[in-house]
Amino acid sequence: MNRRSRFLTLGATLAWCAIVIARSSAFDGQYAAKPAEGVPTFSKDVAPILFKNCAGCHRPGEIAPMSFLTYEDVRPWAKGIRDEVADGTMPPWHADAPHGTFLNERSLTAAEKDTIARWANGGAPKGDPKDMPAAPSFADGWMVGKPDVVLEMTEPYTLPADGTIQYEYFYIPTNFTEPKWVKSIEIRPGNREVVHHVLVYYRATPDMQRTPVLRPNAQTARTPEDQPPGASPSTAPPSGIRVSPPKRGLPPRRLLATYAPGTVSQTAPDGTAFRLEPGGIIELQMHYTTKGEPSTDRTKVGLIYSKETAPLEVRPGQFINGSFTLPAGAADVAVDADVEFLQDATVWGIFPHTHLRGKKWSYKMILPDGTTTTILSVPKYDFNWQTYYMFKEPLKVTKGTKIVSTAWYDNSPANKANPDPKMDVRWGDQTWEEMQYTGILFTPAVPPTPIVK
Ligand code: HEC
Repeated sequence: MNRRSRFLTLGATLAWCAIVIARSSAFDGQYAAKPAEGVPTFSKDVAPILFKNCAGCHRPGEIAPMSFLTYEDVRPWAKGIRDEVADGTMPPWHADAPHGTFLNERSLTAAEKDTIARWANGGAPKGDPKDMPAAPSFADGWMVGKPDVVLEMTEPYTLPADGTIQYEYFYIPTNFTEPKWVKSIEIRPGNREVVHHVLVYYRATPDMQRTPVLRPNAQTARTPEDQPPGASPSTAPPSGIRVSPPKRGLPPRRLLATYAPGTVSQTAPDGTAFRLEPGGIIELQMHYTTKGEPSTDRTKVGLIYSKETAPLEVRPGQFINGSFTLPAGAADVAVDADVEFLQDATVWGIFPHTHLRGKKWSYKMILPDGTTTTILSVPKYDFNWQTYYMFKEPLKVTKGTKIVSTAWYDNSPANKANPDPKMDVRWGDQTWEEMQYTGILFTPAVPPTPIVK
């Protein structure tokens, strides 16, 4: 995966190369054996920054290709680290809101970037090993801590050596006999080389009476599948690809968590939890990529229960535009979706999702009095980094408030990630189709009441 080549235009790439070459030649001669006076050291100054901000992904068995846990691991990457943090490519984070807007923001302070730059430019010295902080620990590799329950695919899935695999769906019964309050959900692929992304849904029969909260736009929220047969044919798959749709006739599903580089877990904010009804089924939508030789995968999902008494329920919802067409070759198509709140609510987070033609997202909140504010802007959306943007100050939304999302798409050949610029593209699950999908986590003002049977 080469993210950068997809990200930047040729011009920008050349400019970037020029900067790197200029920087490298200016600093190459300065790598000294002994740290000069005032130069930060790895042990004392740099390791704490990397352990806190990078090691979650940069450690053995995780998604990043190299580990940053020891000086020996990090030293060859000193200049790369300096450049990636200076231009904001690492740690990956794509919202352009002011620092401190999001709870799960990944970014370094100016002081931290400066420390790394002075360390790399000053010869990347190790310093006194006695200054080293303890390496961060991860319970059996889990990012969020040791799960209370691990739900695993019931059997391994075997992939062929090559070819395109349509999404595969797997069903894991939970056998929960009572409702579970879940604080964190983490997805661990069995085989990272072939698992491209995972969507985790929960399917269960509702056991609570809920007053409606979100009113989607009746004109645009229908997907091709919702429409009468023949009214609007869905995008046809490229020839030779078989599509296996999810099973029919199961209880309704809702999206709980996603796995993709940048997102492996979902944690409910303080005082809140996800509520899973008894008897539910975990549905995994798996996107696999073949790797040139046959392989297997058995992905699992870990749940940590809430330790809080009476947490507020965080409800995952969604709003979409399912009725767009992106004309073949069009480089800049904007597609809106809107949703109205039917009661007061607290909004915890927003998850923008398109496929490979999506390039930008923006969200506006319109209060009943017309006051409009931008609540999230993702100027360089990248399919390869899926993120739930969690607000530090959750949004207090009053009845009648609307959220309007706009996604921009590039269906032209200039988009290097475009699977087929000669195709008119419509809504669909598959990567060669598109989505205009927003996940939204909220708590309504009116609490649910049990359904009496
Ligand atoms: C959310 C996961 C994640 C975090 C956090 C993260 N990285 Fe990365 N990093 C990756 C992945 C995945 C790659 C390889 C693919 C890519 O470049 O997108 C990568 C690649 C890199 C590279 C190599 C880029 C190249 O030249 O190919 C550097 C250097 C780097 N990271 C530095 C850092 C530093 C420094 C931090 C912390 C300040 C950090 N990363 C935090 C996931 C992460």
